[in-house]
Amino acid sequence: MFNIALPKGRLADKTCKLLKQIGINTDEVTSDSRQLVIKDEKTGIQYFLVKPSDVAIYVEYGVADIGVVGKDILLESNPDVYELLDLQLGKCKVVVAGREDFYEDKERPLRVATKFVNIAKDYYASINREIEIIKLNGSIELAPILNMSDVIVDLVETGTTLKENKLKVLTEIIPISARLIANKAKYKFKEAEINELVAKLSEVV
Ligand code: PRP
Repeated sequence: MFNIALPKGRLADKTCKLLKQIGINTDEVTSDSRQLVIKDEKTGIQYFLVKPSDVAIYVEYGVADIGVVGKDILLESNPDVYELLDLQLGKCKVVVAGREDFYEDKERPLRVATKFVNIAKDYYASINREIEIIKLNGSIELAPILNMSDVIVDLVETGTTLKENKLKVLTEIIPISARLIANKAKYKFKEAEINELVAKLSEVV
C-alpha cells in the first residue's frame, strides 16, 4: 500500500506509536533491529529506516511515498515534496547560542558554527548581519567553547547540552517539529489513501 521512510532512532519509535494509535501495526519496526527495509505482510506497508537527514531525499526520489522528517531538515534542504501534517513530535527549536559571557563585536563578521548553513544564512540575512559560516556536522557546542566561533546555530530540545557546556540561548530562530511529507507524483497517484492517513493522524496528534 505505502512505502514509508522513517528516521532511525527516537522519532521512528514515536511515529510508530502514532501509527499504532490509528490501527496500523508497526510491531516489526523495532529500534534495536538492524534491518533497513521492513515489510508488514498484513498491511502491505513497507518501512525504510533511514538517517533522519536523508528521509526527504528518499521521498523526493519517490522510492518512499511518504516520510517523517524534522522541519529543520525541510528548511535547510528545501526538498521538492508536499508537507502534509505537523505530527507534533520531536519538538525543539533552532536557536543562536553562545558563551555565557558572549559579547558581540559589531565591527567584524560574526563567526557562526552550524550544520544548518542555509537556516543560519537566511536568519542573518534577514537581520542584515554579516557572518562567516563554519560548517560542522555534530557536537557544534564545542566551537564557541574553543573560541573557533562566536556563536552556534543549532537545535535545542531540553537545553541540557547548552547548560552542561556553559552556553546560553541568545535568540530563538524557529520552533521545530516532525512533519509528514509526501512525494508529489505519488501523492497524485495515491491521493485518497494518503488523505485518509492524514485525516486519521490529525485526529491523534
Ligand atoms: C542535538 C543538538 C544539540 C542537542 C540538543 O544534537 O545538535 O547538540 O541535540 O539537545 P538538548 O537541548 O536536549 O541537550 P544531537 O544529539 O542530534 O547530536 P549532534 O551533536 O551530532 O548534532
